[in-house]
Order: sequence, then C-alpha cells, then structure tokens
Amino acid sequence: EQEQEPCDIEVRQVGEGETEELMAFLLVHYYREEPLTAGTSPPEPEAADKEFLLSNVPSGTCFMALQGGRIVAAVVAGPKDAHEPEHVAEEARKHAGGKWGRILHLLSAVESATDVCRRFNVPSSVHVHALGVDPQMRGRNLGARLMEAVAQRARDLGHLLVSVDCTSVYSARLVQRLGYQLVNTLRYVDHLDASGEQVIRPPPPHESVQTFVLHL
Ligand code: ACO
Repeated sequence: EQEQEPCDIEVRQVGEGETEELMAFLLVHYYREEPLTAGTSPPEPEAADKEFLLSNVPSGTCFMALQGGRIVAAVVAGPKDAHEPEHVAEEARKHAGGKWGRILHLLSAVESATDVCRRFNVPSSVHVHALGVDPQMRGRNLGARLMEAVAQRARDLGHLLVSVDCTSVYSARLVQRLGYQLVNTLRYVDHLDASGEQVIRPPPPHESVQTFVLHL
C-alpha cells in the first residue's frame, strides 16, 4: 500500500545559487544508483557529466523537494530542439574513451532512434535528464510531484512536449502511472560498441532504457 504523502515537503525551483547543494544531493542519491552511471566504470561521474546536468539550472526547469531545509528529491530537465540527435552524437565523439563517453554513446543511439521533436512535429521538448529521490523518502509520490512540476513549467514556457529516457525500471513505472506514452525501448544487452562489447552493464533489475513523452 502507498504510504501517505508527507505534507511537510516543499517543492520548488532550483535557484542558480543552489547548484552546489543540488550536486551534493545528486552524488549521493542519484548517481550511485542510476543504471548508466552504475553500469560503467569508474563509479564516480566525470566532471563533464556533472557540468552538463548543472548547465540545465538556468533554464528554470529544475526542481527539488525539501524537508526541513534538506533536499530529499531533485529533478534536472532542460529544453532541446530538433538538432538534438546531431548535438548528442557530436558530444559523444568529443568525450569518446571515458565513462561519460560510453554513457553518451548510448544516449546518442537513443536520441537518434527517438528524435522526439521531429517525430511529433514540435519545435522543442523539455527533456528530463535526471530524477533522484532519497531512498528513505521513496514510494511517497515525490518523483511524481517533481515530474509534474517540470510539466507545469514546460507548459508555462510554451513547450508542447516533455520527454524522458528512463534508464531505470522504477522511473519507467513512475512515468507510465503519470500517463506518459512509450516511444522506444533499447535493451542494454543489445547496445554494443564497435568491437561488439556491451557498452553499459547495469545491475538487475534494469534491462533497458525506455523513452517516454507527455503531450502538453
Ligand atoms: N529501489 C528499490 N525500490 C524502489 C526504488 C529503487 N531504486 N525506487 C522506487 N522503489 C519502490 C518504492 O519504495 C515504492 O515501493 P512501495 O510501493 O513498496 O512503497 C515503489 O517502488 C514505487 O516508488 P515510486 O514512488 O514510483 O518511486 P520514487 O518516486 O520514490 O523514486 C526514483 C523513483 C526517483 C526513480 C528512484 O528509484 C531513484 O531515485 N533512483 C535512483 C536514481 C535513478 O535511477 N533515477 C532514474 C533514472 S532515469 C532518469 O533519471 C530520467
């Protein structure tokens, strides 16, 4: 049974002066478990990965949940347009060889296969790059509340679509409950590099990255 939604939680936009606190939270409660990060070595995210996530904060589409002033959940999202498949492919080439390069190798394949702006004929989409909830606070609807905050802001900014590559079974189930539409599934065992090696090896129960969209 679902635990009661805590009423002492404040959900608000991440301010530009709060990137350090946001990253401190993500390092402990997002990156350690997120299947692409957990499924590549070394365990710690590269600087370019962290810089990329934080570069989304000025867009005003990143949110956090706080309990007594402490961050207990966060979502990182930012706008993208029809050039995104070429952009991610270029980033993947630039960072080839390291952990972030392997992650981008997969994300680039996903971006090319899904191409959501062209597919749905919209000029832009707000793409959710990271969602993390403190393990002690999971199952209390915080992930859903943050996803709803992103959708509301995206709508207010005039976007017609929210998109997300769910690398975890838990985030995939969550967005399905929110009415998101499944666009594409890429199984980790099927994503190989040039020498035929599996690029990402996440721990069970994660088996695939599933892309979903919400029409606004
Ligand atoms: N491991 C085990 N159980 C989990 C996990 C998990 N990682 N996540 C959720 N659950 C359980 C909850 O405890 C709850 O159980 P209950 O029904 O017995 O109470 C049930 O699954 C439903 O939980 P939700 O409310 O849907 O999930 P919540 O919003 O609390 O957390 C989230 C989901 C944010 C994906 C969380 O698993 C997490 O922070 N994972 C680590 C980072 C990660 O992998 N993020 C998603 C990657 S994809 C992306 O970021 C776009």
